[in-house]
Amino acid sequence: MRAIRIHSYGGPDVMHLEDLPTPALAPGQALVRVEAASVNFLDIQKRRGELVGQAFYHRATAVSGQPDLPTILGSQGAGVIEALGSDVAQFRAGDRVVFAGTSYATHAIVPAARLIPIPADLTFEQAAAGMNQGFLAYAFTHFAYPTKPGEWCLVQAAAGGLGLLLCQMAKLRGSKVIGVTSSEEKSKFVTEAGADEVLVSTQSDIAKEARRITNGRGVNVVYDGVGKDTFQSNLDSLGPAGYLVIYGQSSGYIPPFDIMTLQEKGSLFLTRTNGLPYLKEYPTYLQQLPTWLREGKLSIHIHKTYPLAEAAEAHAAFERREVVGRLLLLP
Ligand SMILES: NC(=O)c1ccc[n+]([C@@H]2O[C@H](COP(=O)([O-])OP(=O)(O)OC[C@H]3O[C@@H](n4cnc5c(N)ncnc54)[C@H](OP(=O)(O)O)[C@@H]3O)[C@@H](O)[C@H]2O)c1
Repeated sequence: MRAIRIHSYGGPDVMHLEDLPTPALAPGQALVRVEAASVNFLDIQKRRGELVGQAFYHRATAVSGQPDLPTILGSQGAGVIEALGSDVAQFRAGDRVVFAGTSYATHAIVPAARLIPIPADLTFEQAAAGMNQGFLAYAFTHFAYPTKPGEWCLVQAAAGGLGLLLCQMAKLRGSKVIGVTSSEEKSKFVTEAGADEVLVSTQSDIAKEARRITNGRGVNVVYDGVGKDTFQSNLDSLGPAGYLVIYGQSSGYIPPFDIMTLQEKGSLFLTRTNGLPYLKEYPTYLQQLPTWLREGKLSIHIHKTYPLAEAAEAHAAFERREVVGRLLLLP
């Protein structure tokens, strides 16, 4: 197999395409031939070493008994099952699946329990770019804070991979959306995703604008994957008893803060979440996804695809904040 590995943490230059032996299958595992790997911000954080010392990510990504480095990069992919461990009954060789795991590779060994079948109408590219990310957007807008018709939502990094999906999911629920992005070029994609208002973060005071748009009240909910840089303005954008749903930290981790701040800003609710509490909703989501795509109610925006060997260029473009929607690597 070939894979993008890092032997030290750092910039995109630490990423190398290497020939490696294909690992042997153990019971409960599947060997997946990767057709498309999504480039996620989490992969950049892993490459930079920003997940080291974060207990949650370490538990989620470390392979028991093995050193952290060298490591294959990637966190999500789509492909075809080539072979199965002895005791896997629920899949067959040839099945199309998405998986969470080291995906910057031609092949990945994945526990069968982490495989999800791809609906027939979805391409590998759509599946890698939007199936799991779409589920997160669904889970955050329908369950973490189920936004209601007519309510105002503010979506940070709205032109991003998750951001565009969050805007569309909030519109599916009949809510009004303020999307925030850093440039004029990206703002038209946020409008296309259904946002009623688009704010350019480099040109506007976001909290002030959110209050102006909502006649001084503030928004009902903020969905945020940016973290440190947007935390204060998110709190200031919310109306009384508003909800701040934080799911990432593209700009860095939010430092500890005084919980009394929540009361002073209007008795706000705050969560730092992921998709795990809502996994039981995945089958319902998966039933709806092809219909939403067919009816044009949801679209998965793929900004660009790169050959696996050019993964470092993909990371560099992502870090320059040039990307709208999702980048993919095609092994
Ligand atoms: N909790 C979970 O289960 C979960 C799952 C997936 C992803 N995530 C997290 O969600 C966040 C978004 O992931 P994604 O893969 O969809 O990324 P993304 O939103 O497509 O890309 C990150 C965006 O953040 C904005 N940004 C703000 N400050 C930045 C900075 N200092 N450096 C780079 N970008 C910055 C940029 O948009 P503008 O230029 O428009 O500001 C950029 O496009 C990440 O933090 C990721 O770790 C969490």
